[in-house]
Amino acid sequence: MTEPKESVLLVDDEEAIRAILNKGLELRGFECDEVESGEAALERLEQRPSDLVIMDINMPGRPGNEILPVITERFPDTAVIMASGVSEPTMIAQCIQSGAQDYLNKPFRFEQVLQSVSGALEKRRVGVEIHRYFKELERNTAGCCGEDPRRFFLGAIQDLINTLEAHDSYTHGHTGKVTDLCLAIGTQMAFTAEQLEDLRWAALLHDVGKIAVDPDILNKPGELTSSEYRHIMTHAIIGPSLVKPFVNERVIDMISHHHDHYDGSGFSQQAKGSRIPAGARIIAVVDAYEAMISDRPYRKAMSPLDAIEEITWNAGSQFDPIVANTLIRLVQQRGFREAAMHFAGK
Ligand SMILES: [Fe+2]
Repeated sequence: MTEPKESVLLVDDEEAIRAILNKGLELRGFECDEVESGEAALERLEQRPSDLVIMDINMPGRPGNEILPVITERFPDTAVIMASGVSEPTMIAQCIQSGAQDYLNKPFRFEQVLQSVSGALEKRRVGVEIHRYFKELERNTAGCCGEDPRRFFLGAIQDLINTLEAHDSYTHGHTGKVTDLCLAIGTQMAFTAEQLEDLRWAALLHDVGKIAVDPDILNKPGELTSSEYRHIMTHAIIGPSLVKPFVNERVIDMISHHHDHYDGSGFSQQAKGSRIPAGARIIAVVDAYEAMISDRPYRKAMSPLDAIEEITWNAGSQFDPIVANTLIRLVQQRGFREAAMHFAGK
């Protein structure tokens, strides 16, 4: 039996551009359809869902960047790549934040289009698979979880994370350590029980979007190019969209902002300082600390003392100084003996 072709909807008011993309993609085995406006794209998707949409920004009627959030909300299983002749960093960031998988600059290089299409479809496949997993879980456990079904799902998510980390000896156990230390910091910072529960979910799920990241890039034993770095950082955008149906908005916000820098200097970030959710500021420091004291494919683990020095150095710029100080105090309280055992991999 032949595999069904993956479908691509081309949305552009320029007929010549639609024709070039249509021909090129159909030659490579995709099934293409085309419309000339954002409104027509929404109508077409209602009639016939599409795996992927490639959409122009500047079109008559509503611009593509206004149509994008409508598509991601109404058709969560459809991946979207935005395209424009204007390369404005704020517009690119806005589109990525609204759920676009990628942003292509016109004029297109066809090889780049193909690379972007295959990356977006790969991420979509992973997303659909995860949604199916959770839906299945929801169906199988309907009515069995008493008053707090979230506790049940937490266990299932822990299983999922363990499975994902089991592939990679470098990150094995990372999520669990990050979650424990985040909760300890949250407790020190007088979080309520509800805030701690949200923080636990966010810490557990903060890197779930990495399952859509190319493992060769994720484990590259050398310096990343800027486009590889951008690719890895999409995990903070993909992750929230994967788990949105199962956790509350506060958890989604923490996951979305877990790579934000306190001074606003991070990748495509919109908030800074106290506008970054407190839980995200905690995850940022703990995630960095745990990563520093662990071996990575491209470097050996740092000692806890050196890691603390690095955190101190970046307190106030990359990290919230209050959270950084709380972590340092906690690590000192727990004693360097325990941290040294962690460093030795015991
Ligand atoms: Fe992350």
